[in-house]
Amino acid sequence: MSVISELSVRFGDAFEKIGLDRAYGGVTMSDRPDLAQFQNNGALAAASAAGRQPREIAGDVVRQVSDPAVFFELSVAGPGFVNIRLTDDFLAGWLADLSGDERYGHRPHTADGKVLIDFGGPNVAKAMHVGHLRSSLIGDSLQRVFRFAGYEVVSDIHFGDWGTQMGQLIIEAQARKPDLPYFDPDQSGPYPTDPPFTLDNLQEMYPAVTARTKADPAEADRARQATLELQQGRPGYRALWQHFWDVSHDSQKRDFDQLGVAFDLWHGESTVHDRVAPMLDKIRDGGGATEDAGALIIELAEPEDAKEVPPLLLTKSDGGYLYGTTDLATIDNRVDMGVGEALYVVDARQALHFEQVFRAAHKTGVAPQTMVLEHVPFGTMNGPDGKPFKTREGGVLRLDDLIGVVREAALKRLEEAELATDYPEAERLDIAAKVGLAALKYGDLSNNRVSNYTFDLERFTSFEGKTGPYLLYGAVRIKSILRKAAEADLGPGSIVPSTKDAERALMLELTRFPEVIDRTVELRAPNHLAEYAYDVVTAFNRFYEACHILTEEDAARQASWLGLVDLTLRMLTRLLDLLGIEIPERM
Ligand code: ARG
Repeated sequence: MSVISELSVRFGDAFEKIGLDRAYGGVTMSDRPDLAQFQNNGALAAASAAGRQPREIAGDVVRQVSDPAVFFELSVAGPGFVNIRLTDDFLAGWLADLSGDERYGHRPHTADGKVLIDFGGPNVAKAMHVGHLRSSLIGDSLQRVFRFAGYEVVSDIHFGDWGTQMGQLIIEAQARKPDLPYFDPDQSGPYPTDPPFTLDNLQEMYPAVTARTKADPAEADRARQATLELQQGRPGYRALWQHFWDVSHDSQKRDFDQLGVAFDLWHGESTVHDRVAPMLDKIRDGGGATEDAGALIIELAEPEDAKEVPPLLLTKSDGGYLYGTTDLATIDNRVDMGVGEALYVVDARQALHFEQVFRAAHKTGVAPQTMVLEHVPFGTMNGPDGKPFKTREGGVLRLDDLIGVVREAALKRLEEAELATDYPEAERLDIAAKVGLAALKYGDLSNNRVSNYTFDLERFTSFEGKTGPYLLYGAVRIKSILRKAAEADLGPGSIVPSTKDAERALMLELTRFPEVIDRTVELRAPNHLAEYAYDVVTAFNRFYEACHILTEEDAARQASWLGLVDLTLRMLTRLLDLLGIEIPERM
């Protein structure tokens, strides 16, 4: 429970007692922190239905809600707001409870049902692009915050490992090394265990073969044929494909480890291959699909559509299947896994694809009507040129390059700020790695998810402003305050009523935690966490300036302040962890 919900209950009761709907009781943080801490605008909303003056209603509510132990001030203001200030006793009691609660007042979600989060989504042998990076950062933060909020979460990278690009790579591999045993239709193994190509080879082969198949329809046909035969199980192709898969998996796993992003499942499009045929049979039998020139399609248009939703193509006339088909079969698999809600954290440009797949799933009964299927879209991270960011030629983003770039920049910033200069080299590098990732992650997650933004290395790595490094520096400073206190034999004690504005403001800030978690979950929007972490650090810095902890003479007050410092650090650590950001011990 948060202070806001506690107050909303009290105000709801008051509205009910005067014969009005308790929904008017909603309390929010004050728009005017100089005048009040919280406010309730219910009287204004209730006035016309009640046929009464809002100020009059507000007056009645104030009389009902009045409780001197809780409210220092309740006053009717302007056209009929109620301004609210809490007593310092009440606030201190609240903070004391928060301090002993690992959830900081957040009540865990309890309903059962698994939430599957589909994010990352890189493709075998293809270089990543910014869409994959953003998906990884946003998806990872969401899996962390949903887990914290009490949901049973399963995350799946949904590797792109089964489309036309696989057939293209096969024909390219044959063009380059025609003597390999994988291409001989009369051979069925055993095949060599060492991969014939490295990831670098594959990433260079891929654009080469796409160019070739674009220019030459005969080559495009060969690639399609190879994809079809791969899907139908030709042993040599399967064995070669497995090499492609392994090589890609190993390198991407390393990259994601460096990024601090983990997935429960490394499923991919290929995982559901065996489900496709039976699923298509069921769909055919159920009458949910139509055959059109040998192709199987599902009509999806609805009369109320504002924009045209084209049919979903399930199989081509040659029997080969597509991205939408594996996505549908993946839903079939997720239903069997007991998933009640699936979130797809994917580039906004795939909105229509998901609209089609989700409709098809519900329409054909692949997904029960109760299953929630939701696309969680996001905008683009652009480079300084205004185009999607890349670290190499050809629109390519290499995750390890990018991590290297932010780490280098962080190291430079640390030097400029004369931080960590005399630490052992290994520690300095570790700090730079953490600062770099914080810069990258916070630079991304602090934006509204659906907006485009510009990757601005200078700004993101700065120790000033709303940045990851600023937050890390703030957190590290809090650690050092607690260390210094411990050296002076001082430790956190129980929280007593505040006497200073900056102290009260920090306390109020810390009570907001549960709402921020719930809002982040509800809107699938980590920027609320990012914003709040910044507010906490800012409130802490003001508090620290106003309250001279180490020289305070009143021992109880000093211990209480250290209690607040300690609580701030724990909560901030949690908030940053929910953003995927790690705090170094010192800087
Ligand atoms: N591999 C896809 C891409 O690169 C993203 C996968 C998203 N997830 C899904 N279930 N389709 O565009």
